[in-house]
Amino acid sequence: MCIVTVSTVMNEWRTKLGGRVAIVGSGQAAWAWGMGLMHAGIHITQVWGRHAGRGRALANRLDAEYQSIANITPVSWEGDVLLLAVADQAVEKVAAQFECGIFQHIVHCCGTLAMEALAVHPRHGLLWPLMNLSQAHENLLQGVPVLLEANNEPLREILEAWCLDLQAHPLPSTLTQRTSLHLAAVMTANFNNLLLHWGHRTLKGHGEHRLLLPILQQQLRLFAEDPTDPFARQSGPAHRGDIETMNKHLALLEYDPEGQALYRSLSRLIAQLKSKPGHD
Ligand SMILES: NC(=O)c1ccc[n+]([C@@H]2O[C@H](COP(=O)([O-])OP(=O)(O)OC[C@H]3O[C@@H](n4cnc5c(N)ncnc54)[C@H](OP(=O)(O)O)[C@@H]3O)[C@@H](O)[C@H]2O)c1
Repeated sequence: MCIVTVSTVMNEWRTKLGGRVAIVGSGQAAWAWGMGLMHAGIHITQVWGRHAGRGRALANRLDAEYQSIANITPVSWEGDVLLLAVADQAVEKVAAQFECGIFQHIVHCCGTLAMEALAVHPRHGLLWPLMNLSQAHENLLQGVPVLLEANNEPLREILEAWCLDLQAHPLPSTLTQRTSLHLAAVMTANFNNLLLHWGHRTLKGHGEHRLLLPILQQQLRLFAEDPTDPFARQSGPAHRGDIETMNKHLALLEYDPEGQALYRSLSRLIAQLKSKPGHD
């Protein structure tokens, strides 16, 4: 009688569900996906890179084989899914450098590129996490929405299974939804970080920037709890039309012309938005 161990069953299940992954790239996204997938029990077979030092460092961390991408003509790779974690502009060109076997899939992880950028391969898709990946660690994608698309059902199941393994939230999406969310993420998270920089820069020497935390947390809590437009909660001197206070602030920013320009431009925008019907 044949005794089938639990681990054999798990391995077979994982193989069916895309449990062997090769990664192309060795930047922020490659580290974040590599660390997360490995931690979730997925086998990273290879890391393909054009910079041997960076590529080998990631391959060693993931217990994978390093392969050089330099000057290759279409080449085969090892695994179920080839994850392209390269610069957006390079996705199409790099995809064409690989051959896919009959059961192999290829995906990219860019927020603004159509899945069809990989159309040279018959089984393709993408997964884009709504998260800044600059600080790779094993649980970075836990709780994160991951927008995904696939042109075939088995790949869609693989990508959903990865997300569940990573304790992320898979969200089937379209290009229109994804690009809108990408734009919204840039305008809120990226631009907001620039404003956090200004808080830090303005307070320098006069207090710790974490004193601003309660007021920022209040904004985020209300953003999470209340679905109405946050502009309905706008406050501050520009919203009140308090010219005297604005002039005092601009005088305080005299040493920082960029800060003055930012202050003027945002205050003008707030006043304009407030004067529009429905915003008084
Ligand atoms: N970082 C994030 O927060 C984030 C979040 C969501 C999605 N993404 C997506 O993840 C993907 C990778 O971005 P990233 O942030 O990881 O960028 P990154 O840190 O700058 O790394 C880019 C990688 O692409 C490689 N590369 C660039 N041009 C190439 C080419 N022509 N041929 C081969 N390899 C090339 C680079 O190789 P070298 O090291 O040799 O230069 C590097 O390994 C992008 O599609 C991006 O939109 C990133």
